[in-house]
Order: sequence, then structure tokens, then C-alpha cells
Amino acid sequence: MDKTAKLSYNGKEYELPLIVGTENEVGIDVRDLRAKTGAITYDEGYANTGSCQSSITYIDGEKGILRHRGYAIEELADKCSFLAVAHLIVHGKLPTQQELDAFRFDVHKNCTLHTGMHRHYEVFPADAHPMAILSSLLNALGCYYPQMTSNNHKRDLEHYEEAATLLISKVRLLAAMTYRAKMGMPFAYPKRSLPYTANFLHMMFTEHYEDYLPTPEVAHALDLFFLLHADHEQNCSTSTVRMVASGGANLFASISAGVSALWGPSHGGANMAVIEMLESIEKDGDDGTRFIEAAKSGTARLMGFGHRVYKNYDPRAKILGLAAENVLSQMGKRDKKLDIARKLEELALTDPYFIERKLYPNVDFYSGIILSAIGIPTNMFTVMFAIGRMPGWIAHWKEVASNPKTKIYRPRQVYNGEVLRKYACDYTSSLLRVNR
Ligand code: SDX
Repeated sequence: MDKTAKLSYNGKEYELPLIVGTENEVGIDVRDLRAKTGAITYDEGYANTGSCQSSITYIDGEKGILRHRGYAIEELADKCSFLAVAHLIVHGKLPTQQELDAFRFDVHKNCTLHTGMHRHYEVFPADAHPMAILSSLLNALGCYYPQMTSNNHKRDLEHYEEAATLLISKVRLLAAMTYRAKMGMPFAYPKRSLPYTANFLHMMFTEHYEDYLPTPEVAHALDLFFLLHADHEQNCSTSTVRMVASGGANLFASISAGVSALWGPSHGGANMAVIEMLESIEKDGDDGTRFIEAAKSGTARLMGFGHRVYKNYDPRAKILGLAAENVLSQMGKRDKKLDIARKLEELALTDPYFIERKLYPNVDFYSGIILSAIGIPTNMFTVMFAIGRMPGWIAHWKEVASNPKTKIYRPRQVYNGEVLRKYACDYTSSLLRVNR
């Protein structure tokens, strides 16, 4: 393999160094391109641009491979709990049973909120979107931990482990309290005996007249959902977290920004959009056949399909599709939306429009069916995605904050506005004179 890339430009030849990753991915290092050539690269949407080197997650989109710290997602999904994978992503290693028990205890110990935080729920409008509330309250939460939010990375990093555990724990409480505030229900607290995800469901749905304790199947389905969302390298929201961190901002502020980025329908908001899409197909009495034609003509978008990186089946979608079948049958439920989703997948995977564009189901295509079966309201779906993604955001913030070579993320642009113009007419100048 070549050791450099050669560029011929304006009558000159340039040699650009290569950066080769541990999975033999090659990056052409253009860090001094502008100094050498006066030109910049142009890559709207960064589809061909590496913003950093990272050791957290590896994706091979062509082969449908996803690994966290070297472990295949299929194996992690089969053998681990969400908290064990969170430990792997945040601390860089799978925990021993003793480490996992200690981590679980620390997470449980952190599952409380300063009562001052409760008052925020009184001032949001009743129809405020849960993602707007979550993003706001994560920043507000940081105000109670000045030792973790000094915006001096060296100092903030001294509290990294504590902050990581605190955020992984409390994001559940913020989500559950958002739901209960909207339902006009009193807040519910965790039970010491329940593991991470079962405790979240308990805090969401428990009633004053009887405890809600999820079945093992339901708790497992949501725990698997969280695990499969734990990290996904430089996606839009994680890149946002890194962008904000690169300016020196603390973990809470960076993650609050990540939540806002995740909200968009092209990103984490797609799981809500998929359910709305399936519901509208069901309401139209269509089995998916008409909708596929609409998607091909561009009058509709097959939400939950397509991906910037996966040009093969998203391995998470495969696992979630099976999990949706399992949780529905274990609950003795049928969901027409699953039948429609399966039909859409069957039609799309054999249609040239989707095949040529390498459009396959992504993580959002089946995930909403699981959340619906569990009773999570649609407007909380992307909040579930955020709970799952929390470990990834935390680990990426640390990669930026702990790298002494981190430079502030400040991309260039190609300007296409007005060139220098003669100054405005006399009228404007006289107006300025009057207002001076
Ligand atoms: C997530 O990046 C991550 O890792 C994200 C994520 C994570 O874990 O963080 O995996 C989570 O965000 C998954 C993606 C969820 N979004 C959706 O499901 C929304 C529907 N998908 C699309 O909007 C789209 O596929 C994107 C946004 C996901 C990717 O868009 P790209 O890479 O910019 O592709 P594109 O828009 O340039 O599309 C290429 C072609 C176009 O057709 P042509 O102009 O070539 O004729 O494919 C078409 C698009 O119109 N196309 C679709 C389509 N997605 C792309 N056509 C119909 N339905 C779709 N879903």
C-alpha cells in the first residue's frame, strides 16, 4: 500500500501523509493542506471526512460490522447487560462480576435528584417535547455539580468516573419524571432490589396503589434496546458532543447539546417517525405496497431505512427485529405495525430503487415496535435512544477532554455570497446620520 497520497494542483505536486487505523482504514492527512496549497477540502455532510481518531467503536458499513472496544455487537447483545456494555464503553473494559456489582451499586446510589430539580417540571408547558426537557435539565443538573462543570478539562476529568456514573443513573430519573409530570403523577423513586432497566420502568409506570414491576421479558427487551444504542462512533449527536467538548465545555453541557442533535428526524427522531409512518400506513389500509411506491417516487421517505455509514444491513436492526417478535409473543400481543414493517422490509430488499442505493433497515426501523409494546409513549422514544447513547457520549467527551492535542473543532467553508460592493446609497448614510 502507498505510504502517501499524491496531489497534483496548480502545476505543483504534493505528497500527503496517510493515517492508517488498526482495522486498516486509511485517512489522507490534510491538516497542512491549506498551508501547502492554499486550498481546503470540501465535503458537505462530512461523508468522507475523519474528524478524529477514536478507540471506542468500530463500524464497517459495507460489511455491517459494529464493535465496541473490539467486541462484536452480536456477542455483547447476547451475553451482556446494558450496564456491563456501558462500563466497557465508559471505562474501556468489560467489568468483572465484582466490578459490575460495584458499578451497579454506584448507579443505584446516584438515582436521586436534588429537590431543586423537581421545580423545573412545574414551568415547562404541558405539551413541551420530552427531548427539549431532557436537554434543558441535563444542563441544569450540571449546576448542582460545579466540581464537574468547571469548564477546565483537567479539573473536570478528576471527577470523570463519578460524573459518568451519575449521568448514566440520573438520565433515567429525568426521563421518568418527565413522563410522570406530563401524566400528572407524583414522582416515583427507584427500588434497591431492581436492576438498572427494570428500575427505570418501575419509576416510569408504578402506581400509588400498586407497584409496577416489569416482567423479565419486558425488562430484557428494553435493556437490549439501551445496549444496542450505547455508541455508534461519529454520528451526528456524538460529533456534536465532541464539537462542544473541543471548545473546553464540560460533560453536562456537551451532552445537553448532543441530546438536541439527536432529536432531529433524520437521526434519533427517526424511531418516532417510523411508528408514525407505520400507523399511517395501517390507517390507510395499505400493507406497505403503496407506501414503498411513494418512497421510490420521493413523495414519502421510508423512515428507519438507509444510513450514512451502513451500506448493508445494520446489525442492530437484525437483533431488534427478532427482539420485537420475541417481546410481542412473550406478552401475548400482536402488532399489525410489525407485520407492515416486515412487509416493507421484504419489498424494499428486493426492489432495485433500494438495492441500488444500498438502503437497508437501520436501528430505528424495529425499535419503536418494542417501545410501543412496552407502553412507552411515542414522544418518549428518542428519550429512550438518549438513555442508551449516554455511555457513548460520555466516553467521546473524555477522548476529547483528555487529549492534550485536542484542537477546537472549527471547519472552514467555501464562501459563495456577494463579493465586495460599493458602499450603500446616500439615503442610508443620511439615515445613519439621523440615528447617530
Ligand atoms: C440514526 O450516523 C449514525 O450512526 C446514526 C445512528 C446512530 O446510531 O447514531 O445509526 C442512528 O440516525 C439512524 C438513521 C435514522 N434516520 C432515518 O431512518 C431517516 C431515513 N433515512 C434517511 O433520511 C437517510 O437514509 C439518512 C439520513 C439516514 C442517510 O442519508 P444520506 O447518507 O445523506 O443519504 P442521502 O440522503 O444522500 O440518500 C441517498 C439516496 C437519495 O436518493 P437519490 O437522490 O440518490 O435519488 O437514497 C435516498 C435519497 O433520496 N434515500 C432514501 C432513504 N434514505 C435515502 N429514499 C427513501 N427512503 C429513505 N429512507
